[in-house]
This record gives sequence, structure tokens and C-alpha cells, in this order.
Amino acid sequence: MVIFKRINDLQSYLNVQKAAGKTIGFVPTMGALHKGHLALINRCCQLSDFSVCSIFVNPTQFNDPSDFNKYPVTIENDIFLLEKQGCNVLFLPSVNEMYPDGVVLKKQYELGDIENLLEGKFRPGHFQGVCQVVNRLLDIVQPDKFFLGQKDYQQCMVVKKMIELVGMENLKLVIVETVRESSGLAFSSRNTRLSEQERNKAIILSEVLQNIKGNISFQSLPFLQEQAVQQLYDNGFEKIDYVEIANAHTLQPVLEWDGKEKLVGLIAAYLHGVRLIDNMILN
Ligand code: PAJ
Repeated sequence: MVIFKRINDLQSYLNVQKAAGKTIGFVPTMGALHKGHLALINRCCQLSDFSVCSIFVNPTQFNDPSDFNKYPVTIENDIFLLEKQGCNVLFLPSVNEMYPDGVVLKKQYELGDIENLLEGKFRPGHFQGVCQVVNRLLDIVQPDKFFLGQKDYQQCMVVKKMIELVGMENLKLVIVETVRESSGLAFSSRNTRLSEQERNKAIILSEVLQNIKGNISFQSLPFLQEQAVQQLYDNGFEKIDYVEIANAHTLQPVLEWDGKEKLVGLIAAYLHGVRLIDNMILN
């Protein structure tokens, strides 16, 4: 694997691959890599001739500075894992390289309602920051395909919208399903901030979603939602941003189900000061 810190060097290298007719796949990440990220790299290697991963902890998407400061950095292990997975290129830019004119949001993306729901409501400005950095990375790498995880369900929808807005119509977005530990806990870089005991408590997130999924035909959606909130509190979560049952295409809340509408359950909650998110398609 070749590692680049400079945009110009990366682009010169990739241009040679492109000129040789190779298709480029791209996986953007913030590092602290785990099996969820590696599934994306793996899919990228399968579906493209040449795979590029980026590691960049993007300051403009953190509305909470302490969350940014505490973000885990495990670069040596990340490099080891990427090489093992067969990734061809790692792009590892500095903040200066990415934002030479300063760390500011210059452009407002017109994302519509989706920007202010759920994650957008609790993390104001977050999705503008995500769009800014993903747009910049895509402009730099110019891949044929790029890969995102369903773990960040709303992020996938927002980025899809951004791609439409900026007119990257030839770019193919591949969404990879959430990778979980055998306990059901979704892999997340933030899990490293939990003790063994807290990780065991965090399993309840996926259990709650499974429970909603198993009961949507039998119980009212508001009841299932209330029950889920209670289960999270009972298992030691100290703060819940949302437990939502929503239309899987619009993320608008659904209170009554007609048995056909495609639904997704989404949760964001705090365990021992660590904000965890998870989601599940319910039907
Ligand atoms: P990060 O949290 O590092 O995630 C990078 C990619 O890995 C995202 O597409 C995310 O959805 C995916 N991912 C994380 N956990 C996963 C899991 N358990 N199973 C499958 N995929 C998983 O998301 C970001 O970084 C940033 O917002 C980024 C897109 C890089 C922009 O800065």
C-alpha cells in the first residue's frame, strides 16, 4: 500500500492508474478502523480495480469540540489493517492540506428536511460538515465508485443528496450493510471508549431494534418506541437523543403503520458519556 499526504502526489499517482484503464474505488473514513470499515474496504477491493481509503478526522463535522478532541487515533494499527485487507492507497491529509483557506464552511448545501431531522436536530451543522469533506475528498480522488456504511443511515441519504446537488452523475455510491459483533453490537470507533462492562450494556441497542422489528405487526409504533426508551434507561443509558420509527426513504416519523410502508428504526443514546447510534430496517 502506498501512503500519500499531499493531494498533488496522490492525484499524479491515481492518474497513472486511470490512464491504464483501472476503475477507482474509494472509502472515506476517520480512522480507528474496525471490522465495519474493513467490510467497506473489502467490498471496494472486490468491485474496483484499484482501492483508495482516506483517513481524516474532519473538524467541520464535529459540533461538539470535546467529541473531536476525544476521537480515537490508531494510525499504525489502521495502516496494518488496510495493508492486510489489500487496500492499494491510503490518503492521509493534514487539516491544512484539506482546508488551505481555514477550517470554515464556505458553502451551504440545500439538503432539505433531512438535514434537520434526527442526527441533524441533535448535531446542528454536522451534515453540512460531512457534505463539505466528502465533496472535497471526491473532487480530489475522482473515483468511479465510493462506499459508505448503512451504520450511518442518515449520512448515506445526505451524501446521496449532495451528489445529486453537485451533479456527480457518473459516480456510483455503494452502501454496505452494518457489520456487528456476534453479540449484535454494531462495530463503531466510539466503542473503544467503553469498558468491557459498558460494551455488554451497549448490546441492548441492537436488541431493542430487533424487538421493534419482531413486533411491528402486533403492537402500535408509539408503544414500541416508548418501550424501547424504557429498556435503554433500564440498561444504564443515561441520555437518549431519539428512538424513532421512520419512513425508510424520507426519515419522517411514522405513528401508524399500514403494513406496507418501508420502515427503519433509528437510535442515538449516551452510555457513560459516549454517544452511540444504530439503526435497522424493520420490514
Ligand atoms: P467513520 O465513522 O470513520 O466511518 C467511515 C465509514 O464506515 C462510514 O461510511 C460508516 O458508515 C462506515 N461504518 C462505520 N461503522 C460501520 C459498521 N459497523 N458496519 C459497516 N460500516 C460501518 O462516517 C464517517 O467516518 C465520516 O462521516 C466520513 C464519511 C468519513 C466523512 O468524514
